Amino acid sequence: MSQMTYQARLRELAVHHSDIHDRERRKLSKDIHSGVGHELGLARIKLSSILRGKDHNPDKHLMEKLLEIESHLKDAISQSRSLGYTTYPQVLDDAGLVPALRWLMEQYEDEQHVRIRLQVDPECEHINFASPLRTRLFSAVRECVFNAWKFAEAEEIRIKILKAQHDNLELRIEDDGVGFDAEGLNNPEQKKGGFGLFSIREMLVYQGGDFHCESTPGNGTRICLTLPKSHAENL
Ligand SMILES: Nc1ncnc2c1ncn2[C@@H]1O[C@H](COP(=O)(O)OP(=O)(O)OP(=O)(O)O)[C@@H](O)[C@H]1O
Ligand SMILES: [Mg+2]
Repeated sequence: MSQMTYQARLRELAVHHSDIHDRERRKLSKDIHSGVGHELGLARIKLSSILRGKDHNPDKHLMEKLLEIESHLKDAISQSRSLGYTTYPQVLDDAGLVPALRWLMEQYEDEQHVRIRLQVDPECEHINFASPLRTRLFSAVRECVFNAWKFAEAEEIRIKILKAQHDNLELRIEDDGVGFDAEGLNNPEQKKGGFGLFSIREMLVYQGGDFHCESTPGNGTRICLTLPKSHAENL
């Protein structure tokens, strides 16, 4: 096998591997929602009918205990909802990439207290992608946002979707954090460390797109994910 073919096969393997990971997340999320979540919901309804129904039990102590159990159930239901959603946001399949990114933004703002802005070019307002590319792009943006939160100490993260040169589309993730020496990232020969950005680059090249990172220590980071606009729906 030639060096080029071997490299292309490795790239395909990397994309395939992360697709499997995404599929598992999707399945786990469904199991949490329709398995555990469903059972907890039923238990809560049954308990509520004992607490408030005509079988009302005059034993005060027992009723107090049941109310406590109800409160634990409420918490478990809300935790399983949020766990299921964080594992795989169903909105991605139901409504598409932009609503899923909006959800991601709200989740970070609520839980991590980072300001996130999502700016979508008016022409790209209804943009979407078929699966599995839709999930690949969502996971890529999520990874960049996670990096910005984890490493950058950013005050604001901006996600932009815009039309770019040469019939391309661009997803941009920018932060105003500490930045880093990105030289090694743009030169795969010098690659060392984690796999997050490396896998994003491989996925984009596999899709006929490209990856670019501009960052200097102290000056924030801008990551540009480019791909041919022919991949997009509703554009
Ligand atoms: N927005 C950012 N601000 C500052 N540094 C960053 C940012 N994004 C990435 N980095 C730096 O680039 C490195 C490579 O990021 P990458 O996502 O590839 O790996 P990782 O996050 O370290 O590990 P992994 O993603 O495999 O869990 C990080 O370790 C970090 O030093
Ligand atoms: Mg990472």
